[in-house]
Amino acid sequence: MASFTSFGFAALFILAITSSSPAATAAEGFKVGGDEGWRQPAANDTEMYTRWASTMRFHVGDSLRFVYKNDSVVVVDKWGYYHCNSTHPISVFDDGNTVFNLGRPGPAYFVSSDPVRCKNGQRLNVEVISLMHDDPISRTPAPAPFSGAGSNFLAMPQLVFFYVVIASASINNMYM
Ligand SMILES: *[C@@H]1O[C@H](CO)[C@@H](O)[C@H](O)[C@H]1NC(C)=O
Ligand SMILES: *[C@@H]1O[C@H](CO)[C@@H](O)[C@H](O)[C@H]1NC(C)=O
Ligand SMILES: *[C@@H]1O[C@H](CO)[C@@H](O)[C@H](O)[C@H]1NC(C)=O
Repeated sequence: MASFTSFGFAALFILAITSSSPAATAAEGFKVGGDEGWRQPAANDTEMYTRWASTMRFHVGDSLRFVYKNDSVVVVDKWGYYHCNSTHPISVFDDGNTVFNLGRPGPAYFVSSDPVRCKNGQRLNVEVISLMHDDPISRTPAPAPFSGAGSNFLAMPQLVFFYVVIASASINNMYM
């Protein structure tokens, strides 16, 4: 039983290491505008999306979710963003719940296809940071491997699988 326990802890340790490393750079999903979603800002708040974006850090691999009604999300170039002109869109979405993957570093521009709404502030410019140039310390830290061991790790299906494998291995050994 002693060897089972130490094997179990070794397995837990290995699992904690391997599962926490990818988590440190895991892609994040951002809901554009937070609870406000994607809409024409109030007349006294035309900088709403600029302000929202300024509080976030976007990395390659992250995604933006636009939630809206009776509206659209048009991916445009810089000129289209500043002129609220979506005549030459890069992509157009109007499904009401659009997930856009930030696949490239650099700026990305989004507008409503309605130029009036756009001029009233319904446009978004984000700066996407390359993971290579990112300072890993500044990224939202993943939980330390053992800090949440009690509940978090036991809830993980991989761990349950691990213990089943370990348990059956040690039962096999007992009868050998
Ligand atoms: C805009 O005006 C509304 C009331 O008309 C107010 O509740 C809100 O706080 C104002 N927003 C800003 C950013 O000033
Ligand atoms: C959506 O747009 C249609 C026509 O374009 C209009 O009849 C309807 O009232 C709009 N709905 C909302 C919730 O604004
Ligand atoms: C958008 O730009 C094109 C030129 O690329 C121009 O022909 C068109 O009139 C513009 N549309 C608006 C709404 O300004």
